[in-house]
Amino acid sequence: EKGGFASFMDKEIHDQPQAVGDTLLGRTDVDGRLMLDDLRIEESVLRSIDKIIVIACGTAAYAGHVAKYAIEHWCRIPVEVELAHEFRYRDPIVTEKTLVVAITQSGETMDTLMAVRHAREQGAKVISIVNTNGSTIPRESDAVLYTHAGPEIAVASTKAFLSQITAAYLLGLYLAQLRGNKFPDEINTLMDELRDMPRKIQTVIERGEYVRATARSMKDASSVLFLGRHVGFPVAMEGALKLKELAYIHAEGFAAGELKHGPIALIDEGQPVFVVVPSPRGRDSLHSKVVSNIQEIRARGARTLVIAEDGDDAVRPYADEIFWVPPVPTLMQPLLATVPLQIFAMALAEAKGLDVDQPRNLAKSVTVE
Ligand code: F6R
Repeated sequence: EKGGFASFMDKEIHDQPQAVGDTLLGRTDVDGRLMLDDLRIEESVLRSIDKIIVIACGTAAYAGHVAKYAIEHWCRIPVEVELAHEFRYRDPIVTEKTLVVAITQSGETMDTLMAVRHAREQGAKVISIVNTNGSTIPRESDAVLYTHAGPEIAVASTKAFLSQITAAYLLGLYLAQLRGNKFPDEINTLMDELRDMPRKIQTVIERGEYVRATARSMKDASSVLFLGRHVGFPVAMEGALKLKELAYIHAEGFAAGELKHGPIALIDEGQPVFVVVPSPRGRDSLHSKVVSNIQEIRARGARTLVIAEDGDDAVRPYADEIFWVPPVPTLMQPLLATVPLQIFAMALAEAKGLDVDQPRNLAKSVTVE
């Protein structure tokens, strides 16, 4: 059932093009308008919401951070992201005009379920983004947007994460359509970009051997740092989480802009640092800022492992290793930039002889608070 792969995780990484493609399937009508059939919340209610709060745990919460960047940019609705266990216990401000989006692979995470209940008690509408049919959280939500990643067996989340991000983009574009924030042709263009993602994810997977070789050469690392800006920040956090979970190596993700506010003190000779570089074709100075960050840490001895867009020559002088990803709009880059980090963590764990499907101390779904 591992389909010839060494582990479920390896198989599930390879399932990602299909998981993303299936999550996009059947979401538009003949005129190309987005329709999210599963959402049984009245359009008038969705038009009147004044705030979105995304609640989730772990990897699903990082999908929530990507959702924030996309939904705020496309819909101009304020989006907060909060860990479900923190949300539940701090008296959050929730009204009938708040839309709560709960993201969960299993649909059973107790922390997330308790937060969903709490939000509904305060009068909020809850949409859950869920992978597992028939699980508890969708039953207790006002509406559900299913990801179609298929069963995820490995404890560490991979294809569910990419599907959650995809579903969040769909939700964002749907709200933009409904609330008139975007013209139909802009939405179509973005949908076309999304429909092209499975092919590009496949390309990144096919480049995996170089990532694996790098990982094997680093099996004695005792700490690895991950930096990103904008949507690259949650990708960095996810890369760090994968490495902790699978390879039991101390890892931390930072917003690259925070470096000089403290973390740069951690950099010394040979410290491995992954850096997620946004598209150089973006409108603002995001790309050059990240390139300067790479330059700064390299000057202090870091070993720089850079994820960059094909043809981005600006990173070459400062990168010890480069993992190339195909060009996409920066907001969608997490669907590509995450993949080398997943492969890296898996390959490093394998090199250490660890069980990548069943890391120590972890359960696939956390059904206690
Ligand atoms: C990390 C991982 C966990 C889960 C978290 C939420 O690889 O799998 O961090 O993402 O426990 O689980 P779900 O999505 O089932 O609510």
